[in-house]
Amino acid sequence: MSEWQKSDWRAKPRVQMPDYTDPDALAAVEAQLSQYPPLVFAGEARRLKKHLGAAARGEAFLLQGGDCAESFEQFSADGIRDTFKIMLQMAMVLTYGAKVPVIKVGRMAGQFAKPRSAPTETVGGVELPSYRGDIINELDFTPEARIPDPAKMLQAYTQAAATLNLLRAFSTGGFADMSRVHAWTLGFTGEQAFEKYSAIAARIQDTIDFMAAAGITANTTHEFSTVEFYTSHESLLLEYEEALTRLDSTSGDWLAGSGHMIWIGDRTRQPDGAHVEYARGVLNPIGLKCGPSMTSDDLKRLLEKLNPENEAGRLTLIARFGAGQVGEHLPRLIRTVEAEGAKVVWTCDPMHGNTIKSSTGYKTRPFDSVLREVREFFAVHAAEGTVPGGVHFEMTGQDVTECTGGVRAVTEEDLSDRYHTACDPRLNASQSLELAFLVAEELTRFRETRQDRAAG
Ligand code: PEP
Ligand code: CO
Repeated sequence: MSEWQKSDWRAKPRVQMPDYTDPDALAAVEAQLSQYPPLVFAGEARRLKKHLGAAARGEAFLLQGGDCAESFEQFSADGIRDTFKIMLQMAMVLTYGAKVPVIKVGRMAGQFAKPRSAPTETVGGVELPSYRGDIINELDFTPEARIPDPAKMLQAYTQAAATLNLLRAFSTGGFADMSRVHAWTLGFTGEQAFEKYSAIAARIQDTIDFMAAAGITANTTHEFSTVEFYTSHESLLLEYEEALTRLDSTSGDWLAGSGHMIWIGDRTRQPDGAHVEYARGVLNPIGLKCGPSMTSDDLKRLLEKLNPENEAGRLTLIARFGAGQVGEHLPRLIRTVEAEGAKVVWTCDPMHGNTIKSSTGYKTRPFDSVLREVREFFAVHAAEGTVPGGVHFEMTGQDVTECTGGVRAVTEEDLSDRYHTACDPRLNASQSLELAFLVAEELTRFRETRQDRAAG
């Protein structure tokens, strides 16, 4: 990686980044952040990359999820716990149903900066700069709130550090102990998805009890009582990313110290742009959002730039086309990847292509469209003979009303009840678990078909 420098992106065309008005204040924040400890370590990023390599071959499955945008105001231990908990439950449903290890990656501890479809927003005839996430400016619709403030990067770092600290404690401190699978359900009794989950939990508990009785616990205690949980975010605010970039002294490679995995958004993936330039130089696993406008030519150039050594697990392609559009775009991009012989993880983000405005004025996503895009993703991979390697959701463990539908049928009229997202609408806990059961079904079918084929 010899020639690359962490500041090289500055010479490239940039989009979706704020114009800070006070260069001295910005420089002071960057200098301070550069002194802070990295949030993650090179060994962890490499370990995740190795797991993702298995997902590329169909030997593991990626579950990536969390808020669209983390919020300063809604930051709480309970919020982190609930999202962590629902992700463990979803992973359990997938592992139990499809018999495959699940790689758990949160959109957490750094998911603060947002690309926007328009640079300004007009309300009641007043036009102001768009809100770009709590790490940049504020949601309030006033001119002062919308001024980008570099000091917010320090607050974001602090929140990310505290979030990671709690996630690490949950992962190894007893909360994730599999013999507690049942306890994770408490508070959700009476709901269909949770009843189904409860039945699985009971069977897992049975197996654990049997193993304990047979004396098989000794060597497996560690595996059962801790969980690996990784963090990820969109690498959008490059001043923040650069300031947290560290040299890994053992390998001489650069690490994005802001999170285990970073991704490039659908709006910032220009092959010669600043965001690709930054991501190409760090050792972390990289995600790349692929929307309908991704051309085969651009994808080819991006594969070459972002993964020149064709390392399995380095690159995850996150397909987000919208229900009804997968058949038009995914096959052509899969064929590009296959023609290049590129090793990638294909995952499905069924959120960003399915955002609509409800009759009541809220930005929402119909649960049916989300389900449909997931099914289409699996169907295309089955037809192409390629591997569906994971899913990517905007979701929360809390009982919000932001996406319509699901077994508890959130209606357009219900959206105003508990609509808390600062950006895009998220699946609530019940919708997330319901979706996990569907993914488990699809994944099971994929794995059975593959085994049949292998058996000839
Ligand atoms: C996101 O993941 O929140 C996002 C903005 O996605 P995309 O770049 O795919 O639109
Ligand atoms: Co979003």
